Amino acid sequence: METKHWTSHDELNNQAIQEAADRLKQGETIAFPTETVYGLGADATNDQAVSQIFQAKGRPADNPLIAHVGSSDLIYDYVTDVSKDAQALIKAFWPGPLTLILPAKSKLAEKVTAGLTTVGFRMPDHPVALALLQAANIPVAAPSANRSGKPSPTAADHVLHDLDGKIHGVLDGGTTGVGVESTVIDMTLDPPMILRPGGVTQTEIEAVIGPVNLAPSLQAEDDAPRSPGMKYKHYAPDCPIWIVKGGAERMKQVTHDLQQQGKRIGFMVSDERAIELDQDHIYRLGSQKDLLAITRHLYDRLRQIDDSDYEIILAEAFPKEGIGEALMNRLEKAASETIE
Ligand code: TXA
Ligand code: MG
Repeated sequence: METKHWTSHDELNNQAIQEAADRLKQGETIAFPTETVYGLGADATNDQAVSQIFQAKGRPADNPLIAHVGSSDLIYDYVTDVSKDAQALIKAFWPGPLTLILPAKSKLAEKVTAGLTTVGFRMPDHPVALALLQAANIPVAAPSANRSGKPSPTAADHVLHDLDGKIHGVLDGGTTGVGVESTVIDMTLDPPMILRPGGVTQTEIEAVIGPVNLAPSLQAEDDAPRSPGMKYKHYAPDCPIWIVKGGAERMKQVTHDLQQQGKRIGFMVSDERAIELDQDHIYRLGSQKDLLAITRHLYDRLRQIDDSDYEIILAEAFPKEGIGEALMNRLEKAASETIE
């Protein structure tokens, strides 16, 4: 199939948005930018359309999808209950990087919920996504627009690299903002439970609705899968990544040991650490002072690492505060070891 690529700013006009929205409604798969990562969209009420997402991505069928809306009013047709807390979170954070798991009506395609009685909804905060979703005026199922097992795409090039010829189109809106996927919170539990950390932090959520739980798998030493997606190994590059805690000196030690063994090693570190290390093979993430930028660059650097021929990548550990929680969650998933 030919993948239509709406590229320059000019081409992303109302007509392009309308064409993409029409194609979605006809059951086609269209990738689009959101503020987190690119999503691969299909009509969430059309089982056949949704099955093309799984096919294009090579995604396991028991991993449910998030439904995206251009207006919060739309969710009431598809869920049986929106609690007071859920309403408060919608008011505080939509549009934005927060997915709410709510009790589902049976009107959505079965493949969206993967047989669960709940469904995840979110309203993305990106002008292209919002224009598309509003023009289509349907819930759009959209997982990240990558092949399963690859880092989520933060640029249209990443989407095409993985899915060119396998999807009907991609709206190219440049690079995404947050750079990691939305926070997922299960609102059917009391208290609600964060299943995946993302752009909206636990602290921000608790400021609105009071204490929430963290999924056991997000707590140290427990990996019982709760969100179905958690049991799959996402984001794992071909080359092993070791996270090295404990500063530049520790990383220099580990580097020295590995180089003595003749290993070809690369680094994925902050600008500051890059200067301290003084090595050639460095993927820079940005300044330690700007964890948001570091998070935004992570998936692109992981993709570059995928194309490299290093034997080991040593990665810097960042503080798990604010967005650092989501950043380290993704980095730890990609890594095979953590060195204290
Ligand atoms: O930022 C994002 O959320 C991006 C953009 C495109 O919006 N989308 C995204 O979708 O990351 P995906 O499919 O890659 O991740 C959806 C996550 C998975 O971990 C899935 O298991 C979980 O949400 N999920 C979806 N529906 C669920 C449900 N009913 N109950 C529990 N977890 C659910
Ligand atoms: Mg994904």
